[in-house]
Amino acid sequence: MLIPIENVLSKDEVSQFRASLDQADWQDGSKTAGTLARSVKRNQQLEDGNALAVSLGNHILRRLGNHPAFISAALPSRIYPPKFNRYADGGSYGAHVDSALMQVPGTGITVRSDLSATLFLSEPDEYNGGELEIEGPFGVQSVKLEAGDMVLYPSSSLHRVTPVTRGTRLASFFWIQSMVADEGARTLLFDLDQAIQALTPSVQPDDGHLLKLTGVYHNLLRRWAVA
Ligand code: NI
Repeated sequence: MLIPIENVLSKDEVSQFRASLDQADWQDGSKTAGTLARSVKRNQQLEDGNALAVSLGNHILRRLGNHPAFISAALPSRIYPPKFNRYADGGSYGAHVDSALMQVPGTGITVRSDLSATLFLSEPDEYNGGELEIEGPFGVQSVKLEAGDMVLYPSSSLHRVTPVTRGTRLASFFWIQSMVADEGARTLLFDLDQAIQALTPSVQPDDGHLLKLTGVYHNLLRRWAVA
C-alpha cells in the first residue's frame, strides 16, 4: 500500500533545505547503485557522510519521530540515514527493486528495507516528468507530491522515476526497517489505528467498544512486533 505522509517539513523548512542543497556537492548517482541498477540510474546524489546530508537527514529524522501518521504507518525499528538526490536534464531512474539489506556506512548496522520513503523537496509545478511510478497489485501508481510531503511504499515493489524534462526534482529518500516486517500485518494495524483515531472524538473517553478496539490493536502489535 502507498501511504502519503503530509507535512513532514513545513514550507519554511523546505526553503531552508533548498537554499543549502543548491550549493551542495552533487555527485553522479550511478556510482552508488548496485550492478543491475547502475545501468538504469541517471541522477545526482550527495555522497554518504556529506556533512550537509547528515545535518539535513537528522532534521528529517527528528520531524518523523514526532509525526503520528509516520509512526502509525511505519512502526519503525531502524531508519537508514536519509539520502538526497536531484534529477534534471532528462535524468531518470529505470525500473528496479531496492536492495533488501542496507549496511549503514561507517557503522556495523544493517537495515532491512521493509518500506521505502521519498520526501519531495520540489513543488510539482517546478518540473515536468519526475513521477515516482510504483507497481502494485492494482497496477502502476504514479506519485508526485507537494514539497514537504512524503510517500511510503513497500520496498519489495518494482518502481522507477520517469525522466525530468523541465526543471529540477529534488528529493530525500531512505529506507525503514519496521517492527512489523510483514506488509499485510502492518497494513491491518495501520487501518485499525486510523479507524480508532477517527472514532475517538465522537465517543466518551471510557467507551467500552473503543477500549476493546484499542486493546485489539495493542494485542495484535504485541503478537506481531519484533522490537
Ligand atoms: Ni529505488
